[in-house]
Amino acid sequence: MAVLKAENITKIYGGKTAAVRVKALDKFNISVEKGEFIGVMGPSGSGKTTLLNILATIDTPSSGKLLINGTNPSDLSEKDAALFRRKELGFVFQDFNLLDSLSIEENIILPLVLDKLEVGEIEKRVDNIAEILNIKNILTKRPYEVSGGQQQRAACARALIHNPSIVLADEPTGNLDSKASQDVMEALENLNQHKGTSIMMVTHDPFAASFCKRIVMIKDGKYFSEIVRGNSRQSFFKEIMDSLSMLEGNYNDIP
Ligand SMILES: Nc1ncnc2c1ncn2[C@@H]1O[C@H](COP(=O)(O)OP(=O)(O)O)[C@@H](O)[C@H]1O
Ligand SMILES: [Mg+2]
Repeated sequence: MAVLKAENITKIYGGKTAAVRVKALDKFNISVEKGEFIGVMGPSGSGKTTLLNILATIDTPSSGKLLINGTNPSDLSEKDAALFRRKELGFVFQDFNLLDSLSIEENIILPLVLDKLEVGEIEKRVDNIAEILNIKNILTKRPYEVSGGQQQRAACARALIHNPSIVLADEPTGNLDSKASQDVMEALENLNQHKGTSIMMVTHDPFAASFCKRIVMIKDGKYFSEIVRGNSRQSFFKEIMDSLSMLEGNYNDIP
């Protein structure tokens, strides 16, 4: 069973008259199998953030059906939907969203503390995840004492610590230099490979995207094409560049 399945998702923003309505997504389909690492790419305004907000159950589609682990979040009450979101989903944002008043470790375990998980179990999970993400040496530091790449890896740990069905990442390398981007993408790749974490990432960045196993291209809210990575990340990067130039005569939306 797919961990996430979105069928015929249409999202129309705006007012009562056709003139001010925007169709941000148009019968869009996407399916993520367990253990997949999938990227979504497309030009500015193509509907990526809209899609992610709908998959995150922060926003609702105008029509179409969303299933996360077999459940349609719109069938749940508001309270159950919030619980469902906390249990099933993990989020990584462009700007890390760590709390400066807490240590890196406290930031990571916050979701588990809220869930009243046993201390021994919490320590075991932090140890395991910090090892995979290579952040063991900064656990006692505050976010402002570490680099952007380290903060983002801590944010990845926080997104993962409660073992969600899927992690949704919105431009996770958007605020990072190229070395830090590489560190974060390698960390996500490690999580995917060693923990079987299902990841969906929205990105502008072809380098970041080259770490995914599959990439779906979106244009004007519609599915455009998709490519699957073979063995070499370098040749996948070239394929991504080719697909992007196909998508837009000249793809000049790279930050
Ligand atoms: N809250 C909103 N109200 C009205 N239009 C919106 C809103 N959010 C996005 N849009 C429009 O929907 C389209 C898709 O936007 P978005 O999902 O942000 O694209 P992307 O993330 O790919 O840049 C754009 O035309 C955008 O202007
Ligand atoms: Mg966006």
